[in-house]
Amino acid sequence: MNYRVFGASGVRVSEVGFGGWGIGGAYGSVDRAESLRTLARAEELGCNFVDTAMVYGDSELVLGEFLAGRRSKWLVATKFSGQPEGLEATLEKQLVRLGTDAVDLYQVHWAPSRAEQALYDALYRIRKSGKARLVGISLYSIGDINSVLKQGQIDVIQLPFSLLDPDPFLAKLDAIRRAGVGVIIRSSLKEGFLTGKYRRDAVFPDPNDQRHGWTAEQIASTVDAAEQFRFIEAQTASMAVAAACYPLSFAETSTVILGTKSVAQADSNFGLVPGTRLSDATLRRIEARQRAMRLYDWKGRIRDTLSFF
Ligand SMILES: NC(=O)c1ccc[n+]([C@@H]2O[C@H](COP(=O)([O-])OP(=O)(O)OC[C@H]3O[C@@H](n4cnc5c(N)ncnc54)[C@H](OP(=O)(O)O)[C@@H]3O)[C@@H](O)[C@H]2O)c1
Repeated sequence: MNYRVFGASGVRVSEVGFGGWGIGGAYGSVDRAESLRTLARAEELGCNFVDTAMVYGDSELVLGEFLAGRRSKWLVATKFSGQPEGLEATLEKQLVRLGTDAVDLYQVHWAPSRAEQALYDALYRIRKSGKARLVGISLYSIGDINSVLKQGQIDVIQLPFSLLDPDPFLAKLDAIRRAGVGVIIRSSLKEGFLTGKYRRDAVFPDPNDQRHGWTAEQIASTVDAAEQFRFIEAQTASMAVAAACYPLSFAETSTVILGTKSVAQADSNFGLVPGTRLSDATLRRIEARQRAMRLYDWKGRIRDTLSFF
C-alpha cells in the first residue's frame, strides 16, 4: 500500500480506501461473515480508510462490529444524508452504530444549496467539538465544486471520477490543488462495468441492486463505452485493476474508494492496485479516447504533465 494525505490537513490515508456501500447490499446480497473477512484482508494489505453512510443498509453496523478493538488502525468516514432529525443528532446515532466516540471525517451527502448554509455551520461545530476530525462534502458537478471551494473551510471533497466520467474532477484540478482540499474518488469502477465482467445482455434481478432499474439499452451502451478502454488492460493484471488505478495517476487524488465485498476483490483492490501505474503514453491515449467519445462537457485542456509518481 502507498499512502497520501488529505490535502492541507496532513492526515495520512491509504491511496486505496474501502467503499462501504457494497457491504451494505448496494450490489446485491452480502454475507456478513465474508464482509468481516474482507475488511480484515483490506487491513492486512494496508488499507486504513473506510467510507460509509447511514443509508448504506447495514454497512455502519457491520463496521461497528469490525472496528471493535482495532479503531485506532482506521480512519472512519460517514455521511449526513438529510435525516429529518438534523446533522448533529444523526451523527450521535451513527457514533453508536459505529461504536466510536468520534469519526475521522463527516460528510454531507450533497453540496448544500444557498438555503442550506446552516449545514456548513453544523459541520464546523462538530469539527470544533472533536466529534469529527475533518469535515467534507460529497458532490457531483463542476458547480458543486465551485460552491464548496468558496466556503474555504472544507477539508475533503468526495466525487465520482472514472475513465467514463472525466468531469468534473479533471475540469477543476488546478482549483482543487490551490484550495488544499483532500479528494476522495468514488465510482471509478462505474458500478462494476469498468471491470470487464459484464456483457451487453447482463441483467440485475435483485431489487436491492443499484443496477436493477437500468434499462437494457443503458446496460448495453455502458458495456460498449467501457469496451472502448479495453486497451489499458494490456499493462495491468486486469481491467478492474487498470480502471481502479487510473485516478491514482493524478496527484490531487488522496484516495480512491473501491466498493469491495469479497476477500478475492480485496486481494485485487488493496493488493494489486497500489503497485500498478499507467504509463504517460496510456494516459494520453485515454484522454484522446475520452475526447473522441465527447466525455468532456467543459472547454478546458487537460494539463500536459500527467504522471507524478
Ligand atoms: N454520493 C455518494 O457519496 C456516493 C455515491 C456512490 C458511492 N459512494 C461511495 O463510493 C464507494 C465506491 O463506489 P461504488 O461501490 O458505487 O462503486 P465502485 O467501487 O466503482 O464499483 C463497485 C462495483 O465494482 C465491482 N468490483 C469491485 N472490486 C472488484 C474487483 N476487484 N473485480 C471485479 N469487480 C469488482 C463490484 O462487484 P460486485 O457487484 O460483485 O460486488 C461492484 O459491482 C461506495 O462503496 C461508497 O462508499 C458514495
